[in-house]
Amino acid sequence: MHRNTAGGPIAVGVADVVKTYGRGETAVRALDHVSLDLPARRFTAIMGPSGSGKSTLLHCLAGLNTVDSGQVRIGQSFLNGLTDAELTKVRRDRIGFVFQSFNLLPTLSAEDNILLGLRLAGRAPDHSWLDTVINALGLRDRLRHRPGELSGGQQQRVAIARALAGRPEVVFADEPTGSLDSRSGAEVLGFLRMSVRELGQTVVMVTHDPVAAAHADHGVLLADGRVARHLPCPTADTVLAALAGLGA
Ligand SMILES: Nc1ncnc2c1ncn2[C@@H]1O[C@H](COP(=O)(O)OP(=O)(O)OP(=O)(O)O)[C@@H](O)[C@H]1O
Ligand SMILES: [Mg+2]
Repeated sequence: MHRNTAGGPIAVGVADVVKTYGRGETAVRALDHVSLDLPARRFTAIMGPSGSGKSTLLHCLAGLNTVDSGQVRIGQSFLNGLTDAELTKVRRDRIGFVFQSFNLLPTLSAEDNILLGLRLAGRAPDHSWLDTVINALGLRDRLRHRPGELSGGQQQRVAIARALAGRPEVVFADEPTGSLDSRSGAEVLGFLRMSVRELGQTVVMVTHDPVAAAHADHGVLLADGRVARHLPCPTADTVLAALAGLGA
Protein backbone atom coordinates (compact mmCIF):
# COMPACT_ATOMS: atom_id res chain seq x y z
CA MET A 1 0.00 0.00 0.00
CA HIS A 2 1.18 3.51 -0.79
CA ARG A 3 2.16 5.31 2.41
CA ASN A 4 2.85 8.88 3.36
CA THR A 5 5.93 10.14 5.11
CA ALA A 6 4.35 9.50 8.51
CA GLY A 7 4.00 5.84 7.52
CA GLY A 8 0.20 5.62 7.38
CA PRO A 9 -1.92 4.65 4.39
CA ILE A 10 -3.12 7.41 2.06
CA ALA A 11 -6.87 7.96 1.78
CA VAL A 12 -6.84 10.55 -1.00
CA GLY A 13 -4.23 12.50 -2.86
CA VAL A 14 -3.53 14.91 -5.65
CA ALA A 15 -0.27 15.13 -7.59
CA ASP A 16 0.64 18.27 -9.53
CA VAL A 17 -3.00 19.21 -10.05
CA VAL A 18 -3.92 22.29 -12.06
CA LYS A 19 -7.50 23.53 -12.27
CA THR A 20 -8.48 26.63 -14.24
CA TYR A 21 -11.93 28.19 -14.55
CA GLY A 22 -12.77 30.13 -17.69
CA ARG A 23 -10.52 30.94 -20.62
CA GLY A 24 -8.28 33.65 -21.95
CA GLU A 25 -8.02 36.91 -20.05
CA THR A 26 -10.72 36.02 -17.55
CA ALA A 27 -9.24 32.61 -16.70
CA VAL A 28 -8.74 31.95 -12.98
CA ARG A 29 -6.20 29.34 -11.92
CA ALA A 30 -7.90 27.95 -8.81
CA LEU A 31 -5.33 25.16 -8.22
CA ASP A 32 -1.76 25.79 -9.26
CA HIS A 33 0.25 22.55 -9.24
CA VAL A 34 -1.05 21.19 -5.95
CA SER A 35 0.42 17.97 -4.57
CA LEU A 36 -0.98 16.58 -1.35
CA ASP A 37 -1.50 13.16 0.23
CA LEU A 38 -4.02 12.91 3.04
CA PRO A 39 -3.77 10.07 5.54
CA ALA A 40 -6.51 7.52 6.19
CA ARG A 41 -8.27 7.45 9.58
CA ARG A 42 -7.38 11.05 10.24
CA PHE A 43 -9.31 14.30 10.42
CA THR A 44 -7.77 16.87 8.06
CA ALA A 45 -8.79 20.52 7.92
CA ILE A 46 -8.16 22.51 4.74
CA MET A 47 -7.93 26.23 5.42
CA GLY A 48 -6.99 29.42 3.65
CA PRO A 49 -8.31 32.81 2.60
CA SER A 50 -11.50 33.15 0.57
CA GLY A 51 -10.77 32.26 -3.05
CA SER A 52 -7.61 30.28 -2.20
CA GLY A 53 -9.01 27.13 -3.83
CA LYS A 54 -10.32 25.15 -0.83
CA SER A 55 -13.68 24.16 -2.30
CA THR A 56 -12.14 23.50 -5.68
CA LEU A 57 -9.59 21.16 -4.09
CA LEU A 58 -12.28 19.34 -2.12
CA HIS A 59 -14.47 18.93 -5.21
CA CYS A 60 -11.53 17.65 -7.25
CA LEU A 61 -10.55 15.18 -4.50
CA ALA A 62 -14.14 13.94 -4.32
CA GLY A 63 -14.46 13.48 -8.06
CA LEU A 64 -17.16 16.19 -8.21
CA ASN A 65 -14.96 18.35 -10.43
CA THR A 66 -12.43 17.50 -13.15
CA VAL A 67 -8.84 18.74 -13.26
CA ASP A 68 -6.92 20.23 -16.21
CA SER A 69 -3.81 18.19 -15.48
CA GLY A 70 -2.25 16.12 -12.72
CA GLN A 71 -3.49 13.06 -10.86
CA VAL A 72 -6.28 12.54 -8.33
CA ARG A 73 -6.52 9.32 -6.38
CA ILE A 74 -8.82 7.77 -3.87
CA GLY A 75 -7.04 4.93 -2.08
CA GLN A 76 -5.41 2.94 -4.85
CA SER A 77 -7.71 4.24 -7.62
CA PHE A 78 -6.75 7.05 -9.96
CA LEU A 79 -9.76 9.11 -11.04
CA ASN A 80 -8.17 10.41 -14.24
CA GLY A 81 -9.38 8.51 -17.22
CA LEU A 82 -12.43 6.98 -15.53
CA THR A 83 -15.62 7.10 -17.56
CA ASP A 84 -18.56 9.09 -16.18
CA ALA A 85 -20.22 5.84 -15.12
CA GLU A 86 -17.10 4.67 -13.29
CA LEU A 87 -16.72 8.05 -11.60
CA THR A 88 -20.34 7.98 -10.49
CA LYS A 89 -19.76 4.57 -8.96
CA VAL A 90 -16.67 5.80 -7.06
CA ARG A 91 -18.62 8.79 -5.72
CA ARG A 92 -21.59 6.63 -4.78
CA ASP A 93 -19.76 3.73 -3.17
CA ARG A 94 -16.58 5.20 -1.72
CA ILE A 95 -17.24 8.83 -0.83
CA GLY A 96 -19.53 10.75 1.51
CA PHE A 97 -20.09 14.49 1.16
CA VAL A 98 -21.43 16.98 3.73
CA PHE A 99 -22.50 20.40 2.45
CA GLN A 100 -22.65 23.71 4.29
CA SER A 101 -26.38 23.96 3.53
CA PHE A 102 -27.20 20.32 4.53
CA ASN A 103 -28.89 19.49 1.15
CA LEU A 104 -31.53 17.22 2.70
CA LEU A 105 -34.70 16.37 0.80
CA PRO A 106 -37.50 18.27 2.59
CA THR A 107 -40.28 15.74 1.90
CA LEU A 108 -38.40 12.74 3.29
CA SER A 109 -38.02 11.80 6.94
CA ALA A 110 -34.58 11.96 8.54
CA GLU A 111 -34.33 8.17 8.25
CA ASP A 112 -35.27 8.15 4.56
CA ASN A 113 -32.75 10.93 3.90
CA ILE A 114 -30.05 8.89 5.62
CA LEU A 115 -30.91 5.77 3.58
CA LEU A 116 -31.52 7.49 0.24
CA GLY A 117 -28.01 7.06 -1.17
CA LEU A 118 -27.91 3.36 -0.33
CA ARG A 119 -31.35 2.85 -1.85
CA LEU A 120 -30.39 4.66 -5.05
CA ALA A 121 -27.26 2.51 -5.24
CA GLY A 122 -29.29 -0.64 -4.66
CA ARG A 123 -27.12 -1.47 -1.66
CA ALA A 124 -28.47 -3.29 1.38
CA PRO A 125 -27.93 -1.23 4.53
CA ASP A 126 -25.61 -2.63 7.19
CA HIS A 127 -28.04 -2.26 10.09
CA SER A 128 -25.54 -2.62 12.87
CA TRP A 129 -23.33 0.09 11.33
CA LEU A 130 -26.35 2.36 10.80
CA ASP A 131 -27.39 1.84 14.43
CA THR A 132 -23.90 2.81 15.56
CA VAL A 133 -23.93 5.97 13.43
CA ILE A 134 -27.48 7.00 14.37
CA ASN A 135 -26.85 6.46 18.08
CA ALA A 136 -23.50 8.22 17.99
CA LEU A 137 -25.12 11.22 16.31
CA GLY A 138 -28.00 11.22 18.84
CA LEU A 139 -30.63 10.92 16.10
CA ARG A 140 -32.54 7.90 17.39
CA ASP A 141 -35.64 9.85 18.45
CA ARG A 142 -35.56 12.18 15.43
CA LEU A 143 -35.72 9.59 12.64
CA ARG A 144 -39.39 10.16 11.76
CA HIS A 145 -39.08 13.94 11.59
CA ARG A 146 -38.71 15.81 8.34
CA PRO A 147 -35.83 18.28 7.93
CA GLY A 148 -38.17 21.26 8.47
CA GLU A 149 -38.99 19.88 11.92
CA LEU A 150 -35.34 19.69 12.95
CA SER A 151 -32.88 22.32 14.19
CA GLY A 152 -29.94 23.30 11.98
CA GLY A 153 -27.56 21.23 14.09
CA GLN A 154 -29.87 18.20 13.91
CA GLN A 155 -30.22 18.61 10.13
CA GLN A 156 -26.44 18.68 9.76
CA ARG A 157 -26.19 15.55 11.93
CA VAL A 158 -28.67 13.85 9.59
CA ALA A 159 -26.50 14.94 6.66
CA ILE A 160 -23.45 13.45 8.40
CA ALA A 161 -25.33 10.20 9.03
CA ARG A 162 -26.26 10.15 5.33
CA ALA A 163 -22.61 10.67 4.39
CA LEU A 164 -21.49 7.88 6.75
CA ALA A 165 -24.33 5.44 5.94
CA GLY A 166 -22.42 3.53 3.28
CA ARG A 167 -19.24 3.47 5.40
CA PRO A 168 -17.31 5.41 2.74
CA GLU A 169 -13.53 5.48 2.48
CA VAL A 170 -13.54 9.27 2.85
CA VAL A 171 -16.05 11.82 4.11
CA PHE A 172 -15.60 15.29 2.64
CA ALA A 173 -17.21 18.29 4.32
CA ASP A 174 -17.21 21.83 2.90
CA GLU A 175 -17.79 24.36 5.71
CA PRO A 176 -20.08 21.92 7.57
CA THR A 177 -20.50 24.36 10.45
CA GLY A 178 -20.85 27.47 8.29
CA SER A 179 -24.64 27.61 8.70
CA LEU A 180 -24.69 26.70 12.40
CA ASP A 181 -24.50 28.63 15.65
CA SER A 182 -21.33 28.00 17.63
CA ARG A 183 -22.88 25.43 19.96
CA SER A 184 -24.40 23.29 17.15
CA GLY A 185 -21.17 23.76 15.22
CA ALA A 186 -19.11 22.43 18.11
CA GLU A 187 -21.43 19.42 18.34
CA VAL A 188 -21.06 18.64 14.64
CA LEU A 189 -17.26 18.98 14.85
CA GLY A 190 -17.24 16.69 17.88
CA PHE A 191 -19.16 14.06 15.90
CA LEU A 192 -16.85 14.33 12.91
CA ARG A 193 -13.86 13.85 15.19
CA MET A 194 -15.55 10.95 16.97
CA SER A 195 -16.25 9.27 13.60
CA VAL A 196 -12.48 9.33 13.00
CA ARG A 197 -11.30 8.33 16.48
CA GLU A 198 -13.93 5.75 17.33
CA LEU A 199 -15.41 4.56 14.03
CA GLY A 200 -12.18 4.64 12.02
CA GLN A 201 -13.47 7.01 9.33
CA THR A 202 -11.41 9.48 7.29
CA VAL A 203 -12.65 13.07 7.23
CA VAL A 204 -11.43 15.95 5.07
CA MET A 205 -13.07 19.25 6.01
CA VAL A 206 -12.82 22.72 4.53
CA THR A 207 -13.22 25.52 7.03
CA HIS A 208 -12.25 29.16 7.44
CA ASP A 209 -12.85 28.96 11.20
CA PRO A 210 -9.67 28.44 13.28
CA VAL A 211 -11.75 27.02 16.15
CA ALA A 212 -13.26 24.42 13.80
CA ALA A 213 -9.83 23.58 12.40
CA ALA A 214 -8.58 22.93 15.94
CA HIS A 215 -10.77 19.80 16.03
CA ALA A 216 -8.67 18.26 13.25
CA ASP A 217 -5.51 16.14 13.53
CA HIS A 218 -3.81 17.96 10.70
CA GLY A 219 -4.23 21.29 8.94
CA VAL A 220 -3.36 22.23 5.37
CA LEU A 221 -3.20 25.91 4.47
CA LEU A 222 -3.88 27.00 0.91
CA ALA A 223 -2.98 30.37 -0.54
CA ASP A 224 -3.48 31.41 -4.16
CA GLY A 225 -4.20 27.86 -5.27
CA ARG A 226 -1.08 26.39 -3.68
CA VAL A 227 -0.26 24.53 -0.49
CA ALA A 228 1.29 27.19 1.72
CA ARG A 229 1.79 25.24 4.95
CA HIS A 230 1.04 22.09 6.86
CA LEU A 231 -0.02 22.43 10.49
CA PRO A 232 0.24 19.25 12.55
CA CYS A 233 -2.15 19.19 15.54
CA PRO A 234 -3.62 22.63 14.81
CA THR A 235 -4.89 24.84 17.60
CA ALA A 236 -7.01 27.96 17.08
CA ASP A 237 -3.94 30.05 17.95
CA THR A 238 -1.50 28.33 15.57
CA VAL A 239 -4.09 28.51 12.77
CA LEU A 240 -4.73 32.20 13.39
CA ALA A 241 -1.01 32.91 13.43
CA ALA A 242 -0.48 30.93 10.22
CA LEU A 243 -3.37 32.71 8.48
CA ALA A 244 -2.01 36.05 9.65
CA GLY A 245 1.37 35.02 8.22
CA LEU A 246 -0.33 34.71 4.81
CA GLY A 247 -1.61 38.23 5.12
CA ALA A 248 -5.20 36.86 5.23
N1 LIG B 1 -17.37 27.87 -11.25
C1 LIG B 1 -16.42 28.79 -11.23
N2 LIG B 1 -16.21 29.60 -12.32
C2 LIG B 1 -15.25 30.54 -12.32
N3 LIG B 1 -14.40 30.74 -11.30
C3 LIG B 1 -14.56 29.99 -10.19
C4 LIG B 1 -15.58 28.99 -10.10
N4 LIG B 1 -15.49 28.40 -8.89
C5 LIG B 1 -14.47 29.01 -8.25
N5 LIG B 1 -13.91 29.96 -9.02
C6 LIG B 1 -12.75 30.81 -8.69
O1 LIG B 1 -11.67 29.97 -8.32
C7 LIG B 1 -10.99 30.47 -7.17
C8 LIG B 1 -11.02 29.45 -6.05
O2 LIG B 1 -12.39 29.30 -5.64
P1 LIG B 1 -12.84 28.34 -4.47
O3 LIG B 1 -14.32 28.32 -4.46
O4 LIG B 1 -12.13 27.04 -4.59
O5 LIG B 1 -12.26 29.12 -3.19
P2 LIG B 1 -12.47 28.87 -1.63
O6 LIG B 1 -11.12 28.83 -1.04
O7 LIG B 1 -13.38 27.72 -1.42
O8 LIG B 1 -13.18 30.23 -1.18
P3 LIG B 1 -14.32 30.50 -0.05
O9 LIG B 1 -13.60 30.49 1.28
O10 LIG B 1 -14.81 31.88 -0.39
O11 LIG B 1 -15.37 29.44 -0.17
C9 LIG B 1 -11.66 31.80 -6.85
O12 LIG B 1 -10.93 32.83 -7.45
C10 LIG B 1 -13.03 31.68 -7.48
O13 LIG B 1 -13.52 32.93 -7.84
MG1 LIG C 1 -15.31 27.51 -0.62
